[in-house]
Amino acid sequence: MSGDYQLVPLANGLKTLFSASYGEKMHPGLGPLAEAELLYVHQLKIRERLPSTEEEFVIWDIGLGGAANAIAALQAVREIPGKLRLVSFDNTSEPLEFALNNSAALQYPVGYENQMADLLRERRVEFANGKCSVNWEFHLGDFPALLNSSSVIRHSNFPPPHAIFYDAFSPAKNPAMWTLPVFENLFRALDPARPCALTTYSRSTLLRTTLLLAGFFVGTGHATGLKEETTMAANRLDLIAEPLNARWLERAMRSDSAEPLREPVYSRAPLAPPTREKLRLAPQFIASQNPPST
Ligand SMILES: C[S@@+](CC[C@H](N)C(=O)[O-])C[C@H]1O[C@@H](n2cnc3c(N)ncnc32)[C@H](O)[C@@H]1O
Repeated sequence: MSGDYQLVPLANGLKTLFSASYGEKMHPGLGPLAEAELLYVHQLKIRERLPSTEEEFVIWDIGLGGAANAIAALQAVREIPGKLRLVSFDNTSEPLEFALNNSAALQYPVGYENQMADLLRERRVEFANGKCSVNWEFHLGDFPALLNSSSVIRHSNFPPPHAIFYDAFSPAKNPAMWTLPVFENLFRALDPARPCALTTYSRSTLLRTTLLLAGFFVGTGHATGLKEETTMAANRLDLIAEPLNARWLERAMRSDSAEPLREPVYSRAPLAPPTREKLRLAPQFIASQNPPST
């Protein structure tokens, strides 16, 4: 929707983007860069993993928006010799254009305006980002639809990710981005041989059950700004510092909002009996139910 975005001040004086149609701010806690750094870049250990990856390191930046997460990653790797492939997705370029046009007020885009402009115009840009060479591409379209068309993922040149920034608007306002089919398709798009971790700002039981049922290992993520806890998921248990445990599972069984969304419509419901059974069989809980005998 054209004219959807406005600049709004945060308590700490920084500015961020507000979408009128979703009624939500981007990075409402610490502000764009600090929140992006803590929640995505630091938690996903981008600085540590990029230099130890022989091939190019691939980040899927889901919900490009005003590119604060992407720019936090770019700033983090400037001093690291290596190759970064940043694959951004959004169904609109409006927040990117808005952030570019309000670069001085937002501060975080400063220094990356040319790359943002190229991305808007060409949908891709290659550049030397300090010591790190970067290939940044923007896929404009409905992310769930893109994932659903598995042939697009398999036969196009979408490299499978090492890290995923999952930053849609909230499940209540943007339910199409938080359904079980979306996360099942996302899990299928990973390369099982390529360790991949994802973080997102939600800590809801509904999101965590959805990720577990989609095939991910799931854990508690660090606090960031307004959130006392976030969520981390991965295709390898060893990428998760604090995996959800049996106590979390028991709480989920009692929760009144834990059943994954099957359709792009927000609803709250306790786990249905078949879902409870599947959840108990998630690999990370099976492992903890069968401790090695001594
Ligand atoms: C919270 S904002 C992202 C903020 C962004 N990561 C940043 O750092 O500035 C959520 C983004 O998800 C995008 N989005 C919502 N639904 C989508 C869909 N179905 N497909 C792709 N992107 C979607 C919105 O357009 C919006 O830009």
